[in-house]
Amino acid sequence: MSSKKFSLLMFGLSKLKPTSARGVLRGAAGRSSYSWTAVCQQRSSGTRRAVSTSSTTVDPGEVKRFQSLSNKWWDEQGGFAALHAMNDLRVPFVRDNLLTVHSAHHPGKPLAGLRILDVGCGGGLLTEPLGRLGASMLGIDPVEESISVAQLHSSPDPDLCDQVSYQACTLEQLSDEGEKEQEEQSKAQFDAVVASEVVEHLADLETFAICCNHVLKPGGSLFITTINKTNLSFALAIVVAEQLLRIVPSGTHDWEKFISPVELECLLESNGFLVQSVQGMMYNPISGAWSWTNSTSINYALHAVKKSDGAEDSCTHSEFEPAASHS
Ligand SMILES: C[S@@+](CC[C@H](N)C(=O)[O-])C[C@H]1O[C@@H](n2cnc3c(N)ncnc32)[C@H](O)[C@@H]1O
Repeated sequence: MSSKKFSLLMFGLSKLKPTSARGVLRGAAGRSSYSWTAVCQQRSSGTRRAVSTSSTTVDPGEVKRFQSLSNKWWDEQGGFAALHAMNDLRVPFVRDNLLTVHSAHHPGKPLAGLRILDVGCGGGLLTEPLGRLGASMLGIDPVEESISVAQLHSSPDPDLCDQVSYQACTLEQLSDEGEKEQEEQSKAQFDAVVASEVVEHLADLETFAICCNHVLKPGGSLFITTINKTNLSFALAIVVAEQLLRIVPSGTHDWEKFISPVELECLLESNGFLVQSVQGMMYNPISGAWSWTNSTSINYALHAVKKSDGAEDSCTHSEFEPAASHS
């Protein structure tokens, strides 16, 4: 390990605070600053909140970074290898949670009849397998180059051409469009939204939560996978994965934008969702495989459902009482 990397690791480990600490959370790249307690207290009304046109989830630096990586999506041994491997967990996680609510009627196509939005779909690594399970998929991403790659990859496959479509846009643009269309017909409503390894790249998480709520049907599911904000996630997801082993392209992650499961639950529950489950995930860099774990200290998957209209928005968790176990 070079002395620069070693001092970065030491500096990071000694400087970072445990995630349960009360205080102001400040995003380095434009994410709104807010105190956790204030997040919980500010939003108590059950009415749909409008997203101001100035609110955006887009961090231009992130868009630039993913533009430069857009030709790498389907290289299964390349910088996105860990995302390819993550399908072993996240595809069954989405499928099985949806099947607890929607019964399957088509053999081999358990998600037939369901409309799913994949936010930040990149090259379509998760969009495609969910489409193969019968879901009608819309993948969106602000990076046009990634959307072109996703379209090019899925179009020759006869199993996918009717199931999967892609659009280069943001969630807030789609939510705005849906709002207009819903006045005439209930068109832009999804049974589920997936955002896998995306929230840690956004500029504004509250806008994301509000827009997910807008595009989902009442009772619809939101699936998120992301990285916890712990000392261990700094050491493993950034220092080891990016700088030492180079499993992930250097600079992909900014620790300041990681979020703890408790904080994410609180944000979602304050924006019209009920969190159903949070499950830890672990990546083995030697085998290249993911497995479920009780610890959410590095990676985790979350499933929430949109409350029915009129239900009160509230954060039901105190900092010391998470809905699920987090370590
Ligand atoms: C780590 S990749 C994950 C891609 C895909 N979800 C997967 O797991 O294969 C993060 C993705 O988020 C996208 N992204 C960045 N900012 C975004 C935003 N504001 N809204 C939606 N997607 C965004 C990036 O372009 C990139 O495709």
